[in-house]
Amino acid sequence: MTLKLIDTHNRVHKDLRISITDRCNFRCTYCMPEEGLEWTPREELLTFEEIERLAVLLVNRFGIESIRLTGGEPTVRANLVDLINRLAQLPVDLSMTTNGVTLPLMAGKLKTAGLDRINISLDSLQRDRFNNLTRRDNLKQVIEGIDAAKTAGFDPVKINMVVMKGINDDEILDFVDYGRTKKVTVRFIEFMPLDADEEWSNDRVMSLADILEVISSRHELIPLQRGNAPAARWKYADGLGEVGVIATVSEAFCESCDRVRLTADGKFRNCLFALKDYDMRYLLRNGATDDDIADLFLSGVQEKWAGHQIGKSVFIRPSKSMSQIGG
Ligand code: GTP
Ligand code: 5AD
Ligand code: SF4
Repeated sequence: MTLKLIDTHNRVHKDLRISITDRCNFRCTYCMPEEGLEWTPREELLTFEEIERLAVLLVNRFGIESIRLTGGEPTVRANLVDLINRLAQLPVDLSMTTNGVTLPLMAGKLKTAGLDRINISLDSLQRDRFNNLTRRDNLKQVIEGIDAAKTAGFDPVKINMVVMKGINDDEILDFVDYGRTKKVTVRFIEFMPLDADEEWSNDRVMSLADILEVISSRHELIPLQRGNAPAARWKYADGLGEVGVIATVSEAFCESCDRVRLTADGKFRNCLFALKDYDMRYLLRNGATDDDIADLFLSGVQEKWAGHQIGKSVFIRPSKSMSQIGG
């Protein structure tokens, strides 16, 4: 019998995000200092066997329906294709969020291994700005990576653009044009207070309403059904694809949240902004049974709050940055 990972607010959790490394080949300014963060030592990362054990348990016992691999940058983890091969045996929608830079080499292999969907992070289409934001001169490779993902047969390919006022908000219409031309779905993301250097402030957030105003000045939009996913979606009235906005700050979607997370070092987190985590690695490495592990998942979900409090005085930012939590 399948139990449910249900919390005290009656939300059933079906979507698992697994960070497989906190390393990254970029150094995005909103994510980490130039010299990088201190990487988690290899032996502290969950092994593929450990990840597989937790994933199988969550799928078989608790009916998890989708698994997304994140990082850091997931493609820097050695032998990633092997992990995808293993997880692709499970009856789940298997996806990954990547900065795209390795996709010219890897997209085909990932598809063949059984990855179903891919999202690519890209915050500027201008080379100089891209270099400033990521501290890497890799825009060309990322654009080629997006093309490689399309060629490999990923459909849809989604582009995540974090909109930061005064930094890249003048590129919204360029991204709209890019998405329509390349037939990829662009999602504009409100900037969240998870940046490593704590530069975030409400004035930097370009809200869903602001973003829609810009897009609507050029294109007629028709709203689409949303579901549990964080993105509000619209299709272009002329039929040239769709666009999304992930409004974490101005219109939080916590009441329909169905996600749980595992960090690369084996901590279970019930929310992106959680202040507490649950040590699965300790159980895995100390002879715990599946029942012991299942109990910790259940109590971790039981303790989930109603939602984050960004923008309110009670909000406390997590001590970990996005790359350590897994986006
Ligand atoms: P799809 O299944 O393709 O819709 O994936 P996704 O959009 O959920 O995943 P992706 O990794 O592309 O995340 C896009 C943005 O949504 C990122 O900025 C994430 O940080 C944000 N996001 C993902 N999950 C959560 C969440 O649980 N809470 C909040 N507040 N934001 C989230
Ligand atoms: N606010 C919003 N989105 C962010 N991401 C990283 N940091 C932030 C932030 N502070 C995005 C990345 C990636 C996804 C996993 O999260 O650009 O697309
Ligand atoms: Fe790497 Fe993602 Fe952080 Fe950028 S936001 S440094 S791509 S982990």
